[in-house]
Amino acid sequence: MSEFSTPLMRQYNGIKERYPNALLLFRLGDFYELFFEDAIVASKELQITLTSRNKEKGIAVPMCGVPYHAAEGYISKLIRRGYRVAICDQVEDPRKAKKLVKREVTQVVTPGTATGSQVLEPRDHNYLAAVAESNSAIGLAFADLSTGDFRVTEITGDGRQERLMEELVRMRPRELLLAPAASVHFSPESDPPITETRLEEWVFGGEYGERLLKDHFGVVSLAGYGLEGHPLAAGAAGAIFHYVRETQRGSLFHFDTLRFYQENDSLVLDSTTLRNLELLEPLTGGPRHATLLAALDQCVTSLGARKLKSWMLRPSTDAAEIDARLAAVEELSSNTIAREEVRRVLNGIQDLERILGRVSLESANARDLLALKASLEHLPLVRTYLASFNAGRYQELHERMDELKDVHGLIESSIHPEPPALLTEGNLIQPGYHTELDSLREISRNSKQLIAGIERRERERTGINSLKVRFNSVFGYYIEVTRANLHLAPSDYQRKQTLVNAERFSTPELKELEAKILDAEERSQTLERELFVEIRRAVGTEARRIRQTAQALAELDVLACFAYLAAERNYCRPEFSDNGEMVIFQGRHPVIEHIVTREEAGHFIPNDLYLNPTSDILIVVTGPNMGGKSTYLRQTALIALMMQMGSFVPAERAKLPIFDRIFTRIGASDNLARGRSTFMVEMTETATILNTATPRSLVLLDEIGRGTATFDGLAIAWAVVEHLLVHTRARTLFATHYHELTELEDLLPGIRNYHVSVKESGSNIIFLRKVEPGSADKSYGIEVARLAGLPAHVVERAREVLKRHEQSEHTVSGKLAERKQEPKDVQLMIFTPLNSEVVQAIEKVDLDNLKPLEALNLLAELKKQIQS
Ligand SMILES: Nc1ncnc2c1ncn2[C@@H]1O[C@H](COP(=O)(O)OP(=O)(O)O)[C@@H](O)[C@H]1O
Ligand SMILES: [Mg+2]
Repeated sequence: MSEFSTPLMRQYNGIKERYPNALLLFRLGDFYELFFEDAIVASKELQITLTSRNKEKGIAVPMCGVPYHAAEGYISKLIRRGYRVAICDQVEDPRKAKKLVKREVTQVVTPGTATGSQVLEPRDHNYLAAVAESNSAIGLAFADLSTGDFRVTEITGDGRQERLMEELVRMRPRELLLAPAASVHFSPESDPPITETRLEEWVFGGEYGERLLKDHFGVVSLAGYGLEGHPLAAGAAGAIFHYVRETQRGSLFHFDTLRFYQENDSLVLDSTTLRNLELLEPLTGGPRHATLLAALDQCVTSLGARKLKSWMLRPSTDAAEIDARLAAVEELSSNTIAREEVRRVLNGIQDLERILGRVSLESANARDLLALKASLEHLPLVRTYLASFNAGRYQELHERMDELKDVHGLIESSIHPEPPALLTEGNLIQPGYHTELDSLREISRNSKQLIAGIERRERERTGINSLKVRFNSVFGYYIEVTRANLHLAPSDYQRKQTLVNAERFSTPELKELEAKILDAEERSQTLERELFVEIRRAVGTEARRIRQTAQALAELDVLACFAYLAAERNYCRPEFSDNGEMVIFQGRHPVIEHIVTREEAGHFIPNDLYLNPTSDILIVVTGPNMGGKSTYLRQTALIALMMQMGSFVPAERAKLPIFDRIFTRIGASDNLARGRSTFMVEMTETATILNTATPRSLVLLDEIGRGTATFDGLAIAWAVVEHLLVHTRARTLFATHYHELTELEDLLPGIRNYHVSVKESGSNIIFLRKVEPGSADKSYGIEVARLAGLPAHVVERAREVLKRHEQSEHTVSGKLAERKQEPKDVQLMIFTPLNSEVVQAIEKVDLDNLKPLEALNLLAELKKQIQS
């Protein structure tokens, strides 16, 4: 950039140099201005006019600006779009500045450190992540600055990069801290955007991280946090601390602890499965609310909603934990009155974690403290309820929940009941809380009475009834006399200002009083602010107790929500099976059922399921398109997932093992809108399943092989099923339109055929959506096409083509059979129904002229050929 001609631009440049990665909002009078490249970006993102400065001097500097009082909205918008913003304020009174007003960056806001209510989603976390890498491991840390949630993990072993990406997809941080050489890369079009922030290499160092963490937590060893021997995890966590310290004010009291976790602490759901099961977002084209999260989230607090989501992304694999939740849900599901009472009380509780976050980051105002106080008021009642319940989990929550009477008392005695939003206008502190403040207030109150006295006295002295003593910020206190009465004004009045209809005067007495009032007011405002900051800090030092209580409330809210769902939607308490058996009686799809019921669009048809680790390992589901195959597969996985979250499940009865992972692979055509090279994606996903599934996994394969030519697809599907059955032995549901796969049931023990039933009436079909044993007798593709409104003559023609194709099908299958001889332990029955020479021989026979003996001979010959 060219040289800067004015001192102002030199000042700007000096500051901008220190914040090269942020949009610099530079306070000029009543505006925040942006210059150069920043102005071009901001004008586009904010839809504001781009102008220029210094045009006349030849160097046009692009510039745009937003009014300071509306800045928060604009800043939020930039943050949501993934930008970092540095806010540069005037740090001295412009009236007192000798020449150029001093300016400094007072705040840096970034997507991962934002705490403003306009940026945050109340029911969701806002994570900042950091990645520290070495040759053998990856450390990964997540921190939500708005709530104090802080967790770290270390990824070792094979496929680290992929597993890192998986975890990032699950957690969806808004901002990612990376070393300069880090290889992680997110697609720029991810939604919401993920901002990548590069920090210097040393910031991610293990020793540096350990030192920051030990300092912060005031401990000599990190063993208590499970971090001992995990230098990369410490490095990643340290980078977060480093960055937060650099960009934020405040004590970070609310980061009261940190949790070390590992992937297999919970039921693993990879990103494909998150998407395919529509846990957080519907597949492309689906309605927004068609997700498991939306269907289950009936929490009454944001605390609970966030907890529910984290339970959904990380369901438990610990039977005791799941059982404790289920027992708690059971108690409240049958006790409607207690449940609704608890939910009603919880409803009055605000987002304690986020209030605490603002307290800790020193952005909380007096209203935040009052909201905290009002929320705490409900705690005794919540705890009384908890004490009256039987389930062990409620007793634990009762223990963990602290009524925080001291915090409540402090706020009640100190904070004014109707404070302003700003901290600079006074009225923050209750009378009686602080003696000096009380006496300052007394001075200004008395003086105001004195002023009223002066007005009365001067009216009498001058005989001007309309005489007024007034105040404005430019002239201070003055006496106003209307033009008509001007001749009555005494000579000791000093003229200050002439208006059209009146004259304003001052007197020495008034001046003196004014100084006293203003002085007292200024002092009392400063004092109030100081007292407030002190109180806020005192509240902040109780962060650990407040967070622990908030977490207990969150859990209670989720359990009450599960109880509500159990009662309202008729869910049952699932049982554990310890022999790997999976039994679902009258199971339903929680999301489709909920939507169908709510929109009164008919009924959801329940279905049964049976799997075990020996005779019923893998189910092949056939049936027409639209028959309900995919729904049946998904509902099975959702039921398993819900149980491991600790929820009742949509079924009449269910008995399930605890799974370690759920895998899903949904066929290309069901997923076309994602617009990638679909067959390749499909095979990559299938490969992952075959390589990582264990006998304790649940696998859903929906129409695999669809992305390629029919016979390739069939062959692949066949081989995949064999592998899953022979090697993996995971409980598997396989939906397919390859009818040939149903033959596997006879070939391999452990495979069972099921089909979705339809009823034929004439050339019409009705979907019964009942899953029944056995294979579908035909595919009904043409009937479905007819239902979809294909013109009648096209349907007719399709029938003809199909008939011919079916007649010649065996030759095509025959061709497939010639390609390769399969391992002996598995027969390839479907590919060798008839030998092609036999077929040709039969085709040549002229039946009209065939004599009985010739026929017998031919038959013997053919038989010989088949046997050879
Ligand atoms: N058991 C059921 N009860 C009611 N509607 C169902 C049921 N199963 C599926 N559906 C509905 O039928 C449609 C087709 O289901 P889907 O599972 O996609 O079929 P397929 O995978 O066999 O093509 C979906 O709109 C779904 O909502
Ligand atoms: Mg389907």
